[in-house]
Order: sequence, then structure tokens, then C-alpha cells
Amino acid sequence: MNAPKKLNIPIRKSVLALAPYNAPREGRARKLRLDFNENTVGCSPKVLRALSRITAAQMAIYPEYQETTRRLARFFRVRPAQMHLTNGIDDALHLIADTFLESGDSVLIAEPTFDMYRFFAELAGARVTALRYDDEMRFPVDAAIQILRRPSEIAPRVLYIATPNNPTGTVVPQKDLRRILNAAARTLVLIDEAYFDFSGETILPWIRRYPNLLVARTFSKSSGLAALRIGCLFGNPEILAVMRGACTPYPVNTAALVAAEAAVADKRFARSYTREVLKSRALLEKGLQQFGARIYPSGANFVLADFGPRAHRLAKSLERKGILIRERKDFPREGFVRISAGTRADTRKLLRAMKGIL
Ligand SMILES: Cc1ncc(COP(=O)(O)O)c(C=O)c1O
Repeated sequence: MNAPKKLNIPIRKSVLALAPYNAPREGRARKLRLDFNENTVGCSPKVLRALSRITAAQMAIYPEYQETTRRLARFFRVRPAQMHLTNGIDDALHLIADTFLESGDSVLIAEPTFDMYRFFAELAGARVTALRYDDEMRFPVDAAIQILRRPSEIAPRVLYIATPNNPTGTVVPQKDLRRILNAAARTLVLIDEAYFDFSGETILPWIRRYPNLLVARTFSKSSGLAALRIGCLFGNPEILAVMRGACTPYPVNTAALVAAEAAVADKRFARSYTREVLKSRALLEKGLQQFGARIYPSGANFVLADFGPRAHRLAKSLERKGILIRERKDFPREGFVRISAGTRADTRKLLRAMKGIL
């Protein structure tokens, strides 16, 4: 980022050094949005009803977190002290950086992965050591363990892992996560389970065993609450108490609290949407293979596909037809697209449009 010429106040070096992040574009609302792994049908009607019951008096007071934390903790089967509400996982990443990273510290990631790990670490002035997912899109476990075993002065402060990973969709096996956590004596390990509802694999109960483990979840994906910005960070009570000390007083608004409570109460909606997405993902995988794309095993609500030289034209032509998919440029070569699985009707519409193009 270049400093504006007319500004005569200093800007932090870490801000000027940031690479731009390609956030979702504007004007997506009326299109078939298969580019940012959102829920494509919207949240549960019970969430909308709960939101409509918010009173003027509730709006006028600063949010209170105790009751919602207690109810959500019961849903997630943790103690309230093992849970912290955040303004989406993005906010949790910001809070991790604010609490644990000094300028010059190092953090460890494996790319391609969710861009915000690098973004918040670099914003804090940390150095990012980036390993690579292999050709099968597997997390590089052995290389990560070697780095975690470095002497404490040069060990990474934080290791970020998304499982299922975005954009690869691949899941890091639990036996590998156990090896990583056993090797991470001096490193905080964030396991980002944003797509847990679609993989069904979690290590959330491990927060009782590993004092430097944090697990993140979000209501942005299967619950369809991306607009309200709410997520949860889980960890042992001591670490969360320290983090609360570095946190803004009201990171989550009252509407988001009400919506999250209503979302967890409507188990039927969550189950039926997740089932629909899994059927839709199977349809999508089959369709993509029929077009000759290489796909990777996905535990999430999206599929990574390698279309080689056809990828760019495909994405652009779909966009002209009102269907958004995401081209990923962070691979050693071009050709990769990430496509979200919404309902089966969404996937059928996409595959029909692809047939016309390819
Ligand atoms: C792995 C991963 N973590 C976190 C997020 C963002 O979650 P939130 O909307 O809760 O900030 C995303 C969104 O795409 C993601 O892919």
C-alpha cells in the first residue's frame, strides 16, 4: 500500500507493507454466489422471528454476554469460561495477534490457506513462515513439526491451521493434529473449524488437554449469519482470560447474540441445510469430474477444482451469466477455481451453465 501524498502523519510500516486482500466484491446480492462459501438459502426463519422480537430498550443498552455465553456453551458442551464470543472468526484472528504477537515475532502457516491468518499477523508486524500444501493438497505435517521443535527464541508464536482448509477443502487428520499439538510446546495453535458442520470432524474436546490450543467456529457458514458477524473461540480458561484483557468491550452486537441463540435452538434447520449441502457437493464433484477437472477431497461446503488453462475463461463466462465462482491465484500455477456447494438446485444451475461454456 502506498502512503497518500497529502498525509503528513506517519503510518505504521506494517500497514504500508500489507498486500491487498481480495474481499468479496460489491453487487453480489442478486447473483448465484458460489464464490465465498456462504449459505445460499439464508438463515433459519426462527432466527428472523427472534430478531424481529428485539425491543427498542434492548437496542439502547450495550450488549451483555453472560446469558448467551452460558446457553451457547451448553450447546457446544464446554464451560462458559472455555468460550469467548467474537465478531466472526476474523475478529478472533485479530484478537490472537493483539494478545500474542510482537513486531518481529514469527508465525507459521501452510499455504494456500485462509488469507486472514497472514493479514493479521503481518498487520501486527510479525514475520510469516509459509509452508506449502503438497500436490494432493495435504497439510505438510512433518515440515511443520520440525519448525515447531525449534528452540524457544525462534519457535513460531502462533500456528494457524484451518480444517477443512480453505481453499483446498482438505481435512487434516486428527492423528496429525495430535502430533502437531504434542510438538507445539512453545507455540499457540489455532485450529479453525469454520467448516466443521460439513466435515463433522472436531477436536474441540481437546481444549481440556492442550493448554495452548484454541479452536474457532463461526455462524457465517452453515447457519447463514455471515452478515451479523458472530463466532466463538474455545480454549482453556487461563488463556481466554488473558485474551479478554486485550479485547474491545463489546465485540459482538445484540442482534448477533439473539440470532446465534436462535440458530443453535433450531437443530432441524441446521441438520437439513447441512444434509442438502453434502448431497449438492457430491453432485458438484461428479459434474466437475465429467468436465475433466481434477478435484480434491473436500470436507467443506466447496470444492477446489483444477481446470488448467480453461479456468479463467470459465470463471469470466459464468460471471456474465450471473454465477460467481472464485479463481484462486495463490497456487504455483493458474487453473484453480473454488466453487461453493449451495443447494442441489444451485449446483444443477451451475453445471448447466458450465455445459454451455465448456
Ligand atoms: C477458514 C475460514 N475461517 C474463517 C472464515 C471467516 O469466518 P467469519 O465470517 O466468522 O469471520 C472463513 C471465511 O471464508 C474461512 O474460510
